[in-house]
This record gives sequence, C-alpha cells and structure tokens, in this order.
Amino acid sequence: MYVIPADRETPVQEMFTSIARSYDLNNTLLSFGLHHLWKQLTVRESRLPFGGRAADLCAGTCDIAALLARQAGPQGHVDALDLNAGMLAVGARKLRQEELDGRVTITQGNAETLPFASHAYDAVTVGFGIRNVVNRARAFGEMHRILKPGGRAVCLEFSRPVNPMWRALYEFYNFTLLPRIGTVVSRDSTRVYEYLPASIKAMPDQETLADIMRGAGFSRVTYRNLCGGIVALHVGVK
Ligand SMILES: C[S@@+](CC[C@H](N)C(=O)[O-])C[C@H]1O[C@@H](n2cnc3c(N)ncnc32)[C@H](O)[C@@H]1O
Repeated sequence: MYVIPADRETPVQEMFTSIARSYDLNNTLLSFGLHHLWKQLTVRESRLPFGGRAADLCAGTCDIAALLARQAGPQGHVDALDLNAGMLAVGARKLRQEELDGRVTITQGNAETLPFASHAYDAVTVGFGIRNVVNRARAFGEMHRILKPGGRAVCLEFSRPVNPMWRALYEFYNFTLLPRIGTVVSRDSTRVYEYLPASIKAMPDQETLADIMRGAGFSRVTYRNLCGGIVALHVGVK
C-alpha cells in the first residue's frame, strides 16, 4: 500500500516531471475522455466574461487555461500557474498550436503564494490540482485575495462517490486496475499511478472542502457531483 509522504511536494513534482509527456493521453484513457467535459463545465461555472481576466492554478498542460482563453476572447487574459516546468512546457506547446499563446501567460510558481495582484481577477480555476497542494486553506486564501469582489473560484477535483455500491466499484478500478494500466502506458517507475488513488482517498469529502473554502472567505459556496461524486465541482464567490 502506497503511503503519501508528509513532505509530498518534491516526490509529487518528480512524478509529474516523469509523466508530463504522456499526461494528456493517460488522462483521456483513464477518464474515458470525460476530463474534457469536466473541464468545459469548470470554465462554464467560472462565468468568465468576454474580455475578462482569469487565473488557472495547478494548470499542468494548460487544458483549462486554453478553454478560459477562448471564453475570454482576444481582449481577455489568462494566467496559467504551475510548479512543474515539464507540465508547463507541454502546455506552452499546446497553446502555441492553438494560437492562444498571446492570450495566456505561463508562470512557474506555487498556488500557496501567488505572484499575482490582489482584487484583479474575474475568475480563478483549479483542476485536479488542489489535491496535491500541501496547504489547501492557504491556496484558497490566495485565490480569494486575487479575485475581484464578486469573482468566482471554481475547483474541479476528485471526491467521494455518494452511493456505496458505486464507491466499491470505483475503488476497485482506482486501487487495482488504474495503477497497472497507468504504469504500463506511461512506462513509469515513480509510482505515480499508486500516488494518484492514494491522494484521491486522502482528499477531503465534498462538505469538508466546501468548509475549507468558506474558511478562506468565500460565500455562496456550492458544489455539484459529477459521475456520482467521483468528481466534484465546487464554486465559491468573493
Ligand atoms: C493532476 S495535474 C492537473 C493539471 C491540469 N489542471 C489538468 O486538469 O489537467 C496537477 C498539477 O498540479 C501541479 N501542482 C501540484 N502542487 C502545486 C502547487 N502547490 N502549486 C502549483 N501547482 C501545483 C502539478 O505540478 C501538476 O501539474
């Protein structure tokens, strides 16, 4: 059984560096393509206005940043931030191919200490990233700080399936099948596909995450379950 190290930042970053180039393919295979839909919902929930400004944290290979840039249009702007240079390099290539690189600024940095101005953003998103952040309350505090009053934070993350039968089936997939498929597809030796289910299991449930957001200052915090709660989409308003 994989145990998440207390100081997980360095080992987690080594894992993302090792899988950066196969990350998109693996994501699509392991989620049966659903991650594209979940990311579209995330951007829709951000209600980013045309010409607006957004930040995408834990941006990885920049899927959500690209969708935000399309929603904001040519007058808008998106900051994509991630700790991992390898993931961001894949994202930068994608943005160039989609001719969105002029609308997205990529920054290597930590979601817990954002190098962005206060009260400056219409929306902040974080997709499948908050799970990896060591101090989640601090990261939500930073999201709150950089948002304009009325701005929206949207968090897409693995969560807790509500139905016990569905949860049991999902856990079999997650703890037995997924580590085997992931390791073979990415030829990975850093145990990332053991880390993935362990980190999902360690993630607070829907209500607890909503409370963390409220504690960071967000109001009108709501969430909706996707795929019966395998994934949850939390929204908070500043
Ligand atoms: C599972 S990937 C998600 C990437 C992308 N958002 C997506 O949905 O495809 C998680 C990302 O979070 C990044 N990350 C982890 N901890 C972070 C932190 N404290 N600050 C910024 N990025 C972080 C990792 O480097 C990795 O690229």
